[in-house]
Amino acid sequence: METVLSGIRSTGHLHLGNYFGAIRNFVKMQHEHRCYFFIADYHSLTTHPAPGDLHRNVRQVLVEYLAAGIDPEVATLYIQSDVPEVAELYLLLNMNAYKGELERCTSFKEKVRKQPDNVNAGLLTYPVLMAADIIIHRATKVPVGKDQEQHLEMARTFANRFNRLYKVDYFPAPYAFNFDNELVKVPGLDGSTKMGKSEAEGNAIFLADEPGAIRKKVMRATTDSGPGIPGEEMSQPVENLFNLMRLVSTADTVEHFLESFQQATIRYGDMKKQLAEDMIRFTAPLRERILELEADTDYLKKVAGMGAEKARESARKTIREVREIIGFKPF
Ligand code: TYM
Repeated sequence: METVLSGIRSTGHLHLGNYFGAIRNFVKMQHEHRCYFFIADYHSLTTHPAPGDLHRNVRQVLVEYLAAGIDPEVATLYIQSDVPEVAELYLLLNMNAYKGELERCTSFKEKVRKQPDNVNAGLLTYPVLMAADIIIHRATKVPVGKDQEQHLEMARTFANRFNRLYKVDYFPAPYAFNFDNELVKVPGLDGSTKMGKSEAEGNAIFLADEPGAIRKKVMRATTDSGPGIPGEEMSQPVENLFNLMRLVSTADTVEHFLESFQQATIRYGDMKKQLAEDMIRFTAPLRERILELEADTDYLKKVAGMGAEKARESARKTIREVREIIGFKPF
């Protein structure tokens, strides 16, 4: 049995990218491995959310995680800030993380571009906190989407560096994981190759979206100027639509539209109509569960409490051992 861990920032509703990139994998793994799933609320502070929004977002992500099928009786489902040991490990790992390598991180460079007025130290050391999240439970498998690959590489660097510095074999190396081997990158509806919650309006389909909202977004999705000649190469936006269709539609449906694309008889409007209906069918049971769970504060409280207790037990053990390795000794 291996230890599996994954997390998600508490910055808004979960979308199909989160679901297919990460959550679907957790759900498959929870009965076979020692699994930890957490809500990264410390991480969300890099953008300075208002206190009321912070709590609302954490609650929402918890609801949506549960609705997506994570079983808190089997897996340990917790909120990052309920486990302050993570912050201690983050501090310790920071002593051994270098400015140059952190500045070279793609996600950091992207944030500098997107929020030039708020390039805080938390943003720079984001991968260190992420490494702490993972290695605090000494996890080896981390189900994530393709966009997190570099962060996982950095987590391995920090884990290995700790081992080398203290001449121990304490932290195992964590790897990004997907059931189908290839890490997933779910495209957006705006023609971009990534569905993301902070991307342009209309880029993402959220698990909690109502059917009307899904239809509207899908019908507005970017395509191209229409079918050209038979056998013509597919443009990126159209390829995105096919990739989304592969996630939610039957193989026959995908095949049907692919054929009509190849013959240049495709009508993007028809394809979008079908895609929207298939997305609605796919998300409907999730949305129903979300609505049920949203109202059940007692249950959410119970889940969060149970998760915090289990996660802290594991984190405390690691911190005790790490302190000993580093040389902190009680008098
Ligand atoms: P976050 O919150 O941006 O995304 C959560 C998970 O969803 C995946 N994902 C996608 N996968 C495929 N296609 C997409 N379009 C797509 N968009 C998002 C992400 O890859 C991720 O798996 N840094 C992390 C949160 C985190 C974490 C961790 C994850 C903090 N500590 C420790 C794993 C382990 C993040 O921002 O994910």
